[in-house]
Amino acid sequence: MTVPAWLTAFLLKFQRAFAIAVVAAQAGIAVTGSVVRVTGSGLGCPTWPECVSGSLVPVAHPEIGPLHQWVEFGNRTLTGVVGIIAGLCLLAAWVDRPRRPRVVKLALVQFGGVVVQAGIGGITVLTGLLWWTVGIHLMVSMGLTWAAVVLLAALREGDGPAVPLVSANAQRLQVVQAGVLGLLVLAGTFVTAAGPHAGDASAPRLDLPVPTLAQVHADLLFLFLGMLVGLGFLLGRHARRPYAVLVATVLAQGVIGMVQYWTGVPEVLVSVHVLGAGAVVIATAHLWTATRVRAHLDEVGLRSQTAGSSVASHA
Ligand code: HEM
Repeated sequence: MTVPAWLTAFLLKFQRAFAIAVVAAQAGIAVTGSVVRVTGSGLGCPTWPECVSGSLVPVAHPEIGPLHQWVEFGNRTLTGVVGIIAGLCLLAAWVDRPRRPRVVKLALVQFGGVVVQAGIGGITVLTGLLWWTVGIHLMVSMGLTWAAVVLLAALREGDGPAVPLVSANAQRLQVVQAGVLGLLVLAGTFVTAAGPHAGDASAPRLDLPVPTLAQVHADLLFLFLGMLVGLGFLLGRHARRPYAVLVATVLAQGVIGMVQYWTGVPEVLVSVHVLGAGAVVIATAHLWTATRVRAHLDEVGLRSQTAGSSVASHA
């Protein structure tokens, strides 16, 4: 494929901006997805990939209100926007010289992830918003958000193997903490699955008590917080800023979670909570990338310098 010079220049100039945009877009589409849910618009387009049988876009329907149709259709359209941003990341990585296989792979994960998410979204609709399909949809979004942060970091790093800046114990704790975050988010999807915001009154729900699920969800937060305190000691002077941002983000999200639980899960707080979940994932992934460096290999791959000093040369 021959890419015109002006397009190559444009893609490389804005490569970092595209990567920042894909982080925001992956976390943001989870929020718009929650808006679909809390407004009861999940089946505003009752089929997929068409909105209603015979039309890709909403048309007047005797049983579906136009608001529900346009909210659900708007979210589907946003998938296209996220796909375009991920596509720009991929194109920029492809035209970069020398081509960086790790960056290409990470950008491919973003683009492929959007395609996969479009399919999962379709399954969600075709199963009538079956609770565990909605949960998988959100979990994949959070995974893609984490991967987008890694892509962004890769642009300022070199291509050598990751060299930890922190002790082996700190690294181990970060791995376990990432796992606990996964469980915390998963538990959140279970609370949602049993809670009042199904996306449609007819959606099959998880038949378990919300207070018990919310308790497990909050307990995992306490575990996460405990590990965060331990990590603070193990990190020493490393990555103080990303660490402080993570602590602040997690505490804020915990408060939002408590308030929404005590106030009967008002719609707006549900969406703010999903935004907070994305922010916690971003902050945890950022701390992860900030505690390791990758050496910058030169064109023949013989010499190396630290990733920090390679930033300017690659930008
Ligand atoms: C860092 C801390 C937290 C994270 C990352 C987190 C994340 C999440 C996620 C990802 C969901 C699922 C959203 C969805 O499926 O659309 C959720 C739901 C929920 N969370 Fe949390 N959460 C945290 C703390 C808390 C706390 C402390 C509480 C208090 C009990 C709480 C209460 C809830 C409730 C009630 C729901 C269900 C909302 C609904 O009905 O849709 N969360 N959380």
